[in-house]
Amino acid sequence: MPVQVSSEVSFLGLHVPAGKDNASFPSAKRLEGKVAIITGGARGIGEATVKLFAIHGAKVVIADVDDNLGHALANSLSSQVSYFHCDVTLEDDIENLIDSTVSAHGKLDILFNNAGVLGNQAKHKSILDFNAVEFDQIMRVNVRGAALGMKHAARTMISRGGGGCIISTSSVAGVLGGLGPHAYTASKHAIVGLTKNAACELGRYGIRVNCISPFGVATRMLVDAWRGVSR
Ligand SMILES: NC(=O)c1ccc[n+]([C@@H]2O[C@H](COP(=O)([O-])OP(=O)(O)OC[C@H]3O[C@@H](n4cnc5c(N)ncnc54)[C@H](O)[C@@H]3O)[C@@H](O)[C@H]2O)c1
Repeated sequence: MPVQVSSEVSFLGLHVPAGKDNASFPSAKRLEGKVAIITGGARGIGEATVKLFAIHGAKVVIADVDDNLGHALANSLSSQVSYFHCDVTLEDDIENLIDSTVSAHGKLDILFNNAGVLGNQAKHKSILDFNAVEFDQIMRVNVRGAALGMKHAARTMISRGGGGCIISTSSVAGVLGGLGPHAYTASKHAIVGLTKNAACELGRYGIRVNCISPFGVATRMLVDAWRGVSR
């Protein structure tokens, strides 16, 4: 009897047999039982991550300032996904987010510090047009927000005996110069430094601290910048 050989597809490094039986793929639920918070989760890269984490079995809390999009996304997914209003520039909001998540789900395994803003200087990239007020606003969201997220996630992870994962979204602009506005570039470089420093401290508790540095992704942030749209 001939042996049937099926072709394989690769998804996130997993190899599975191709075919329509795998329509619900990925079948390996790599985040089953995990509890994750995703800031800036209402749209763009955060939204895609919410969906992927949910497919993998995580309980996901979407944290964002866009309540309409956040609620709509949560309602469109399983009951494992919920929305929580959180402005990452406000420490009280972040503290409430983390504490409410632990109250609802008993723990926090993953914090994805993804909320970020590009700023309107995308249109006026010259240092001669540098706007100090906008610089402060961008740093408050991109850097201060991430640092506060690390603080409160680490607090609860350590108090539960350690272990956990804190990921932040830097950017290719956090590694290279000449790609984005000055304030955004400075903020994304700062996330790399903050991540390295927090990783050195939190490793002893088994908490992994990493950041990702995506290149261009056609989200509203990037498309608005290309079109010169201010929000
Ligand atoms: N799109 C790209 O090309 C690209 C490349 C590299 C890095 N990044 C980074 O990826 C992350 C996500 O960006 P995106 O492209 O999905 O952008 P996006 O604008 O589509 O999404 C950003 C999300 O963050 C939320 N947000 C903004 N300020 C907030 C605040 N104060 N508190 C809570 N939520 C807030 C927004 O409401 C939105 O839902 C950002 O940190 C961005 O800097 C994006």
